[in-house]
Amino acid sequence: MAQLWGGRFTKETDQLVYNFNASITFDKRFYKQDIKGSLAHVAMLAKQGILTEEEKEQITDGLNGILEDVESGKLEISDKYEDIHSFVEATLIDRIGDPGKKLHTGRSRNDQVALDMKLFTRDEIHEIDAQVKELLEVILHVMEENVETYMPGFTHLQKAQPITLAHHMGAYFEMFRRDHERLQDIAKRMNTCPLGSGALAGTTYPLDREYTAELLGFDGPTLNSMDGVSDRDYLLELLSALSIIMMHLSRFCEEVIIWNSNEYQFVEIDDAYSTGSSIMPQKKNPDIAELVRGKTGRVYGALNALLTTMKGIPLAYNKDMQEDKEWAFDAMDTAKGCITLFAGMLKTMQFNKDRMEESAKHGFTNATDAADYLVNHGVPFRDAHGIVGKLVLTCIEKKIPLDALPLEEYKKISPVFEEDIYEAIDLETCVNKRITIGAPGKDAMEKSIAAYKKYMAE
Ligand code: ARG
Repeated sequence: MAQLWGGRFTKETDQLVYNFNASITFDKRFYKQDIKGSLAHVAMLAKQGILTEEEKEQITDGLNGILEDVESGKLEISDKYEDIHSFVEATLIDRIGDPGKKLHTGRSRNDQVALDMKLFTRDEIHEIDAQVKELLEVILHVMEENVETYMPGFTHLQKAQPITLAHHMGAYFEMFRRDHERLQDIAKRMNTCPLGSGALAGTTYPLDREYTAELLGFDGPTLNSMDGVSDRDYLLELLSALSIIMMHLSRFCEEVIIWNSNEYQFVEIDDAYSTGSSIMPQKKNPDIAELVRGKTGRVYGALNALLTTMKGIPLAYNKDMQEDKEWAFDAMDTAKGCITLFAGMLKTMQFNKDRMEESAKHGFTNATDAADYLVNHGVPFRDAHGIVGKLVLTCIEKKIPLDALPLEEYKKISPVFEEDIYEAIDLETCVNKRITIGAPGKDAMEKSIAAYKKYMAE
């Protein structure tokens, strides 16, 4: 047991209590952020005359030495300390003696951990955001290659109207673009520095909080010391953003799994991203897509866990808040793993364009266009809908698509139909007539792609 307190205690902590209370096994993960925060704190203390220049030099050298030795593996972060803050401070005192004891002047572990967690989260957000941007690049590339790859668009998983693969991918571009913007937004809002909030009520030392905030790359200090130590909103926002990213990935995975099935055969997942069966030699399974879909629950779990942990906590710091870490770390790791693997799978996936087009030609995806044809010839839409319904029924009976039905059959149901109906319900026509903003028509799609390329360049 190695702890920073004990003066007012007359008994040793029970070992089980000690273990239950300690957080070093997981908060050692932000040793770098902890040391970085201490370096800024010490620089500020010296600037304010609270430490001498000499003390500052000694502490700074000591902290840098600890950082180096941890990174090189020379110094192991021992689990015998209560938390990472205790480990760093105790090691510093061990190494440099008395000046080390001044490091914690005007600081509490409450504002220290609030800072560490913020610094760590901020770094993670940038890392995750870079991955989201890479995924956007992959999606955009698939879009560019598939402006004329026709496929059925679905509602209720029933063939609805023809679209293109570029159009389908564009929907995901929009989703992940919002994710990217959400991450940026969180990084911006969270960028205030809690250091100097003390345990909850600030401190009587003349700290320059603006200076430490600036040294650590924050826009400024937090403006209420109680909120400073007990705010975890930024973490909830990130877990919420990660949950939405996972939901998007999971939907995408669900489609990949369906498209990769023997019935659809719209795509073939690359061998490097598939797995086999131990019993069925013919199998090539979409395990990666399934795992990403499955891991979504873990990330939702982390969000739920922290929301629940936070809901009953009176101001200011309470030990419950130590529970903010493990699930959050797991969620960050999970999301990062999933985004990278998904991007790799998408990048290497083969699209079976003929099969997609063939599928779009069946299932009456052009029925709406047949109705539109009638509307363009003066038939009210509701009547046109009924007429085409009858046409579809006839075709189902004859087991043929709309464009294989002879003109006399069309005319039996409505005399308005002429030879040009075949042109109007042709797959390419059906798609390329859709030129409103955001529609799958070639012109509209090329405009979207140009806008996305510009967006990525900015
Ligand atoms: N390990 C603690 C945490 O993660 C650090 C803060 C401890 N503060 C305290 N007053 N016990 O929240």
